Amino acid sequence: MNDFDYLSPNSVYLDAACQSLRPRPVVDALERYYFQHNSCGERVKYAWGIKTDELVEATRKKVLKFLKLKDKDYFTSFTLNTTYGINLLLNELNPAHIKKVYTSEIEHNSPFLATMSLADRLNIPRTVLKRKTDGTIIIGDENFRDSVVVVNCAANFDGRTLPNLKDVIKRVHKDGSIIIIDAAQAMAHHHEILEKTEADAICFSAHKMYAPSLGVIVARRDLIPKLHPSFIGGGMVDDVFEDRFLLTASGNKAHTYTIFEPGLQAWGEIIALGTAIDWLSARTKSDCQNLQAYTTELHEFLHNNPRINLVGETVSPTMSFYIDGINSHLIGNALAKDNIMARTGYFCVHYYLDKVLHLPPLIRFSLSYATRASDIDAIKKALAKI
Ligand SMILES: Cc1ncc(COP(=O)(O)O)c(C=O)c1O
Repeated sequence: MNDFDYLSPNSVYLDAACQSLRPRPVVDALERYYFQHNSCGERVKYAWGIKTDELVEATRKKVLKFLKLKDKDYFTSFTLNTTYGINLLLNELNPAHIKKVYTSEIEHNSPFLATMSLADRLNIPRTVLKRKTDGTIIIGDENFRDSVVVVNCAANFDGRTLPNLKDVIKRVHKDGSIIIIDAAQAMAHHHEILEKTEADAICFSAHKMYAPSLGVIVARRDLIPKLHPSFIGGGMVDDVFEDRFLLTASGNKAHTYTIFEPGLQAWGEIIALGTAIDWLSARTKSDCQNLQAYTTELHEFLHNNPRINLVGETVSPTMSFYIDGINSHLIGNALAKDNIMARTGYFCVHYYLDKVLHLPPLIRFSLSYATRASDIDAIKKALAKI
């Protein structure tokens, strides 16, 4: 059965790096929550709420299982999106431990600006690490002592990953510091990069991994003592006095996740993320081969055209390029007329694409499990026309 059968044959969706199309079972799970057990999690005694609690708890477990992480070491919290998760973490790290902040040159504005803001607020130096064209971070003789490092493990303009992710984490930990991974672009098609990771925290967006709009923070339990929570509200405390409170996360291991979850959560969306993880885990060899084949075919087509300039050298479902002598935004408009939904501009990577590489605005195609052979034909035809 085609889980994207609602997509009309002549609509070509190439914006999965922003948000994936949602497969039917995910939308069905969301609908089941709203139609069958619409209720608040963690507070109610009636059956609908108990069902919600069970399914939310199951999603927390599924996230850890998907990443092959152990519940004794990590916990899963839900937020709004990757940007919110990174900002929340950086705002809540106890400043006593942070004397420097690092990010890398190929980051999305989400970590790039959040690290800038942290440096400003704490009046500490910020270093932008260089990365090779395959995504490797060049560490050199850097000393990460008393710092926090925030880097992605997959880029949103050409899908380059972070081949030395394990070494970077080891180095940061050897220097006694904290590393947060922006996994926004890794979870849909490269989640294996993060399996058994030892990073202190991973932030990602469920909407980029076939799930509803939602953010996720997966964090190490031993990060808790290094936090100074400042964003606090309902659902986070065990007891409250006139001028103090007892944080649930400090004493209740089963509810550590409440540390990042002030107030009511997006229960239905969390539950449907669990369904999206089941759905992703059920992708067959042939689903993966199809996505790989469409990626290779389109990449080769772009690569072989002498007027098309592809960014980077990675062959990934996410690819960006510009065409000599034609403004990318105009190309975006022309593609839109043929029902081809692609993105144009710098995709929130202004620093690297504009200031480091000095590239003109780009066009981005991001494929997914919803991509069909006919889509690739349509793109080729439309580009040939242009
Ligand atoms: C690598 C990367 N990091 C962070 C983000 C921010 O994600 P969100 O807008 O869901 O917070 C994106 C979004 O495209 C991204 O691609």
